[in-house]
Amino acid sequence: MGLQMFAAILALLFVAIPTSNAWGTEGHYMVCKIAQSYLTSTASNAVLKLLPAGANGDLASECTWADNVRGAYPWSSALHYVDTPDNLCTYDYTRDCHDSSGASGRCVVGAINNYTSQLRTYPSTTYNLTQALMFLSHFMGDVHQPLHVGFTTDAGGNSITVYWYNVKTNLHSVWDTKIIQTSMSNYFGNDMNTMANSIKANITSTQISQWNSCGSSTSACADTFATESIQQACNYAYKDAPNNAYLSDTYYLSRSPVVNTRIAQGAVRLANFLNQIFV
Ligand SMILES: *[C@@H]1O[C@H](CO)[C@@H](O)[C@H](O)[C@H]1NC(C)=O
Ligand SMILES: *[C@@H]1O[C@H](CO)[C@@H](O)[C@H](O)[C@H]1NC(C)=O
Ligand SMILES: *[C@@H]1O[C@H](CO)[C@@H](O)[C@H](O)[C@H]1NC(C)=O
Repeated sequence: MGLQMFAAILALLFVAIPTSNAWGTEGHYMVCKIAQSYLTSTASNAVLKLLPAGANGDLASECTWADNVRGAYPWSSALHYVDTPDNLCTYDYTRDCHDSSGASGRCVVGAINNYTSQLRTYPSTTYNLTQALMFLSHFMGDVHQPLHVGFTTDAGGNSITVYWYNVKTNLHSVWDTKIIQTSMSNYFGNDMNTMANSIKANITSTQISQWNSCGSSTSACADTFATESIQQACNYAYKDAPNNAYLSDTYYLSRSPVVNTRIAQGAVRLANFLNQIFV
C-alpha cells in the first residue's frame, strides 16, 4: 500500500485507542455488590428509592451504567480517570484533575466530589440523584483501579501493548478485566458473585477502619484513593510490563492479590461514602 494510505491507517489506529476504559464489568459489579451489603439501613433505604425500577434493588446491576452512557454523554468520558505526569508516581488534584482541554475538576476525583455533594441534597429533586448514585458508584470503582490514575502519554496503559497468556491486548485492559477474569476462571467457576463473596469474606474489621481513615473529608479521601492508585500503578502495574511484554503466571500471581484488595477497598469506601451521605 502507498505511504499515504499507510499513514492514514496508522492515524486511525491511534485515534481508535480509547483514552481509558472503565474498570471492567466484573470489577464494578463486585465493588457495588460488596458495598451494598455494608450499608446502614438509612443509606440502604435511600439507595433503594433512587435505583431505577429495572435494578430490582440491586446496586451492582447499575454500576456499569456510566460506561454505557459515554456515547450519549460525551462530557462524562473525562470523568472516568485522571492522568498524571509520566514517571512521577504522584497525584495532585490542582495539577492533575482536569480534562484534556484543561477544564479543572474534570477527572474521576472531581466527579466523585461532584456526585457526593449532589447526593447530599437527597431527597431534593434539584439534581437527578438516580444518575448521581450510578455515577458515584461507578467512579468509586474506577479511582481504585490503579491504571485509572496512570501516566498521561500512555493513557493509563491503553497504548502499551502486552500479551496476556499469549493473547494480544493492552496493559490497561489487563488491569480492567484480564486479571479478574483469569481469577474468576481459575478459582470461582466464572461467577462474579462467588468471587465477590470470597473477596468479602477476607475483609476484616481492622481493614475497614484503616481504609475509612483516609482523610478529614470525603474529598480528602478521594484524593487519597487516587494517590494510592498511582503508587500501585508504578509498583505493580507498569513494573515489569514494558511495551510488547509477555505476561503470564509470574505477573498474574503477584498482581491478583493487589486487584482483589483494590476491589475490597473500593467496596468498603463506597459504602462508607453512602453511609455518610444518607444520615
Ligand atoms: C457534575 O454533575 C453534572 C450533572 O451530571 C455534570 O453536568 C457535570 O459535568 C459534573 N461535573 C463533574 C466534574 O463531575
Ligand atoms: C434521571 O436519570 C434516569 C437515568 O438516566 C432517567 O431514567 C430518569 O428519567 C431521570 N429522571 C428525571 C426526573 O429526569
Ligand atoms: C483471601 O485471603 C487468603 C489468605 O491471605 C488468600 O489466600 C486468598 O487468595 C484471598 N482471597 C481473595 C478472593 O482475595
